[in-house]
Amino acid sequence: MTEEPDEKLYLDNAASTRPSRQVIEAMLEVMRVDYGNPSSRHAMGLAAERRLRRARSQVARRLGLSANRVVFTSGGSESLALALLGSGTRQRSPGHLLISAIEHPAVLRTARRLEREGHSVEEVPVGATGRVEAEQVAARVRDDTFLVALMHVNNESGVVQPVAEVSAAVKARKPGCRLLVDIVQSFGLLDTRLEQLGADMVALSGHKLHGPKGVGALGLARDVKLKPLWEGGRQESGLRAGTENVPGIVGLGVAAECGKGDADSLGALTALVARTVTEQLPRAEVLGDARHRAPHILALAIPGVRADVLVNALGASGVYVSSGAACHSRGAKRSHVLQAMRVPEDHGVVRISVSRELTPQQCEQAAQRLVETVRGLGQ
Ligand SMILES: Cc1ncc(COP(=O)(O)O)c(C=O)c1O
Repeated sequence: MTEEPDEKLYLDNAASTRPSRQVIEAMLEVMRVDYGNPSSRHAMGLAAERRLRRARSQVARRLGLSANRVVFTSGGSESLALALLGSGTRQRSPGHLLISAIEHPAVLRTARRLEREGHSVEEVPVGATGRVEAEQVAARVRDDTFLVALMHVNNESGVVQPVAEVSAAVKARKPGCRLLVDIVQSFGLLDTRLEQLGADMVALSGHKLHGPKGVGALGLARDVKLKPLWEGGRQESGLRAGTENVPGIVGLGVAAECGKGDADSLGALTALVARTVTEQLPRAEVLGDARHRAPHILALAIPGVRADVLVNALGASGVYVSSGAACHSRGAKRSHVLQAMRVPEDHGVVRISVSRELTPQQCEQAAQRLVETVRGLGQ
């Protein structure tokens, strides 16, 4: 199969990535050949079940789990909801939940729902570095704290959170407290094995690593028990009723096996963009502490520029970036992450996120176009 020539400069890979050829081919084969229901006990069903089993092992391997601890879902948001609500509804009495101030809305809003249902929720702030501090989390742990939710890589700033340190500090105070880690941005790129992260649950999504949209997984440590979000068939160890999205799950498995790319190469691309922009626009600033940034995301703050205007102007010239998270970019309100990091209101922030499909020349070209566009806007 040939791929279309790509004229556009797509630097919005934290929002979504292009499914790889291997992913598309594997998914097509499932739809064409192995389209049986994995619960059917005839040969077609067994073939589909084998496909599921393989994908489960491919994902589990990246998480350092045995395959039966992977639950397939419809994506990152559902995985996070299953972890949060599925833990909350298991509590015999209302408890306490800690989340960082920079979590994805899938965590923030679901936590608020738990609050409406009687639990108490506390947000841990981050400083200008965009990182929570382990001691600040641990200091808030109470006797009734049942869950801490902290993302691995923030989708807007690219800042890597000290997940293992937080885990150690929290568990030193309360060994039974669970840690849920959103690894949507880091899966397939950084080390996301549960043991290394000190995590009890991890949530991931297919479309951030050249896999399909609408499919994800929740990885569970051996002793974690949850309640399902709804009732029905006994699929996914009883945790997620409904016939499995076999093509999507197979695509996710292939994407997990291939990974997102080499961290050093992706880091070289974002470094190239950062250098090109800051050399020519000395007032532009890269957000977040350089020692703790994920290789594929670069958040650039440019004083006196409106991010939405800049993103639109760049889009018109074929350069696709985003102003903060995709789910916020259509809203005029400043994102909660930039607020938490206390980025001044008059700084426009654009998020540039690269993939292994980009060349250094393309990144240089995109950066150059960004510089020209900012200058064209009068800065
Ligand atoms: C950090 C993070 N968590 C969760 C999600 C939600 O994932 P999904 O789009 O698969 O529901 C996203 C996607 O934007 C994300 O970046």
